[in-house]
Amino acid sequence: MNGRKVLLIISGGISAYKSLSLIRLLRKSEITVRVILTKAGKEFVTPLSVSALCGGKVYCDLFDLDDEAEMGHIELSRSADLLVVAPATADLMAKMANGLANDLASTCLLATDKPVLLAPAMNVRMWENAANQRNIQTLINDGSSLVGPNEGDMACGEFGLGRMAEPEEILAAIKASFSSGCLAGKTALVTAGPTYEPIDPVRYLANRSSGKQGYAIAKSLADLGAEVTLVSGPVNITPPSEVHLLQVETAQEMLVAAQKSLPVDIAIFTAAVADWRIDKPNDQKIKKQIGEPIPEMEFIENPDILAIISALPKATRPKLVIGFAAETENLLENAANKLSTKNCDWIIANDISGDVMGGDHNQVALLMGDEPQ
Ligand code: CTP
Repeated sequence: MNGRKVLLIISGGISAYKSLSLIRLLRKSEITVRVILTKAGKEFVTPLSVSALCGGKVYCDLFDLDDEAEMGHIELSRSADLLVVAPATADLMAKMANGLANDLASTCLLATDKPVLLAPAMNVRMWENAANQRNIQTLINDGSSLVGPNEGDMACGEFGLGRMAEPEEILAAIKASFSSGCLAGKTALVTAGPTYEPIDPVRYLANRSSGKQGYAIAKSLADLGAEVTLVSGPVNITPPSEVHLLQVETAQEMLVAAQKSLPVDIAIFTAAVADWRIDKPNDQKIKKQIGEPIPEMEFIENPDILAIISALPKATRPKLVIGFAAETENLLENAANKLSTKNCDWIIANDISGDVMGGDHNQVALLMGDEPQ
């Protein structure tokens, strides 16, 4: 990302404070950032804090003689590779959709010849309002891209769609838009790690998966330009900053998270999902009774996430579904069997005999079914 330049426009919303973290993340990724702070934005973050973080001047006024002499608004709007509006308020987006230019931010947005990425942030009712939705559609038709908004609790006390995307997600979208990799513009889902299936509040069933392989694949996909959602069971690895991480514990939670991240172009299932779970986990810790028989547990089958996603109708099924076959014996035979029974497009036969689980090296064979349509 070294040498890339972003013009960040911070408009007036409570989530403006998150844009301070975004500035730090951008600089950490060696992306140069110039900042425009609107009049309303100044009500939420100060020019001093923005300036301290971006390491330069903060641009605020259209008619500031010094600013204009140093760098005119036209040059400001074009000197960056990408304009990012975070938070993008309903008001600023309405101005953009209607071509208004009555302050520095809206003027730069109208004058730019560079791509624009919007991170909307507003109350759920404002987001859903027909006028706002019309403006959003106009902006998309005009070529702007969106990251978020997300669903969740809002500063105003309501719940719903309208929270600004997290700084890490905005950074990922910025990187994806800069990426010239072969997967630029594609979306991907990766499942990784083990699942934990509860027995009681302190015990669970699990396996030795470290998640390393899934995390490395997610990072490679992101490096190639894909927008990646990583659905991860419990692991001890720092996730790559450019992926959207959904943390889960059980197979059932992993299925829900995977379904939620659809539609995607590519789905890769590296997770070592527990095949079975305890039918009725105990509410209280099961006590050991000396001399009594050991407790009996009834298992039921977990959903097969790979098979479920592979069986989706064409409209929602990822175009390329890749499964893994972790085998200690009969590697290719078992892998070929999984390729056909789970109906995925490719399967990666992962030889886990010996000391592979949790290690740094493994050997795989790639089995490809019919060419995905
Ligand atoms: N998988 C899944 N959901 C499950 C079980 C497995 O999505 N409930 C996926 C894994 O992520 C992997 C593939 O299915 O991509 C094969 O998983 P593996 O553990 O090798 O095989 P299983 O189907 O569990 O069969 P077995 O344990 O008998 O080898």
